[in-house]
Amino acid sequence: LKIQDYRPQPFTDFTRPENVEAYQAALNKVRAELLGKHYPLVIDGERVDTPGRLTSTNPCDTCEVVGTTAKATVEDAERALQGAWKAFETWKRWEPDARARILLKAAAILGRRRLEACALMSLEVGKNYAEADVEVAEAIDFLEYYARSAMKYAGFGAAETTWYEGEENGMLYLPLGVGVSISPWNFPCAIFAGMLAAPIVAGNCVIAKPAEDSGMIAGFVVDILMEAGLPAGVLQFLPGVGEEVGEYLVTHARTRFITFTGSRGVGLHINEVAAKVQPGQRWIKKVILELGGKDAMIVDETADLDVAVTAAVQGAFGFNGQKCSAMSRLIVVDEVYDRVVNAFVERAGALKVGTGEENAQVTAVVNDEAFDKIGKYLEIGKGEAQLLLGGEAPGQNGGKRGYYVQPTIFGDVSPQARIAQEEIFGPVVSILRARDWEHALEIANSTQYGLTGGVCSNDRERLEQARQEFEVGNLYFNRKITGAIVGVQPFGGYNMSGTDSKAGGPDYLANFLQLKAVTERW
Ligand code: NAD
Ligand code: ALA
Repeated sequence: LKIQDYRPQPFTDFTRPENVEAYQAALNKVRAELLGKHYPLVIDGERVDTPGRLTSTNPCDTCEVVGTTAKATVEDAERALQGAWKAFETWKRWEPDARARILLKAAAILGRRRLEACALMSLEVGKNYAEADVEVAEAIDFLEYYARSAMKYAGFGAAETTWYEGEENGMLYLPLGVGVSISPWNFPCAIFAGMLAAPIVAGNCVIAKPAEDSGMIAGFVVDILMEAGLPAGVLQFLPGVGEEVGEYLVTHARTRFITFTGSRGVGLHINEVAAKVQPGQRWIKKVILELGGKDAMIVDETADLDVAVTAAVQGAFGFNGQKCSAMSRLIVVDEVYDRVVNAFVERAGALKVGTGEENAQVTAVVNDEAFDKIGKYLEIGKGEAQLLLGGEAPGQNGGKRGYYVQPTIFGDVSPQARIAQEEIFGPVVSILRARDWEHALEIANSTQYGLTGGVCSNDRERLEQARQEFEVGNLYFNRKITGAIVGVQPFGGYNMSGTDSKAGGPDYLANFLQLKAVTERW
């Protein structure tokens, strides 16, 4: 490939009025052209409709239907799987650079349609401008980054072997076959795109099943990949119900690999189902799981408290805490507890609640299920700890009915409380008081999860101790704990947070490749 080195996309500055105006123009365009649109399945390059439909509604204004997708049945899934294996026979022989060019072209098209993709997500999942913008930037980055990564695995000399007298020895990377990519609604553009682009550029064929709440932005991305020239059958687009079509695909004997990002419960279930060998199955399925978190940030007495409070607000309430990386536990050492907590509560209390379209700082949570679940945790929290802010889920805001939950903070939470251990996935933070630094680190490591973590401190020894001992896949010092950038902070969790596959990292494509060692005696 004759292209420049990878550089992450810059983010848009929405303090500039012209960028806000451009975003609003994109919202108008999306309202005019995409609102009410229907996205069929894509099987073997053909658009296929189904009797059933999945409807996307605007979580910030539940009266508004944003659009629909087809709803795949198990018969559609069967056809998609068989078709993908047929396409694999040709796709696996494509030169890696030719495959990569399709991703690069898709990145360019998505770049041109960046604001449209953003505006669609404001309507479909309630992202505000900056959250949507950062996400589309990440989707472009995944396409650009994985296109370049594919070159690393090309050819017989791609993996190192030791010289041996009288023989030629070497290794080559080969694609696995057909896999299933099952993605969540919270990064419905970036994670959806990244989880299909990586295996595809490595020479596999993929059946992509988006989450039920975000099928439209997924359909938008699939259209772009088709426009970029992806051959028929290489990407099968199968929106549908997880427990039906997803379950069928992960169980199927002809599924070679599964890449899943979503909740711990579903991920562990998939792991179990995939481990059971089906009649006629010829391989051990490869399963890559990226799951939830109960992410903590520690603030000690040496920290710059302004930096810490800013990091806490951004990390906790960005996209309403609906990020696997969100700071849902704030651990503060006793000496500075009151100062940090007072400032944090004050800053969080000033956050503006509203719609994604209005660019509010906190918007509505994604659906009724999330709304009910968070509501239950608000009640559990009131019984377990001291309510410092919020605590209600009014279900409406400024005359709009939607899944609105107040930014909520609980103080003096016990490390073993349910709100300190379980993923809530909403704008709810538990603050825990630690005696000192050692106690804070012990609390941080006291859940089963291990996705992101942070330390705000100016003590070098403590930072170095955390570098080794804070059990997370992504650790941040003196900044927010969300917002990993492709190639800059490869992303993936420890423990029950996942298989640490490090999306956007230098070895991510190896998850979808198998190595073959070949020896020729001269
Ligand atoms: P979810 O687990 O409910 O759903 C994820 C996907 O799995 C959806 O596409 C769903 O349809 C599908 N699914 C559900 N049941 C299935 C089954 N039986 N078989 C196959 N597929 C099935 O998660 P969600 O609510 O969409 O997303 C939020 C969760 O994702 C949170 O727990 C969050 O922490 C996690 N997440 C993790 C990461 C990460 O990188 N670690 C990133 C984003 C989100
Ligand atoms: N990659 C996303 C983040 O870092 C989840 O926030």
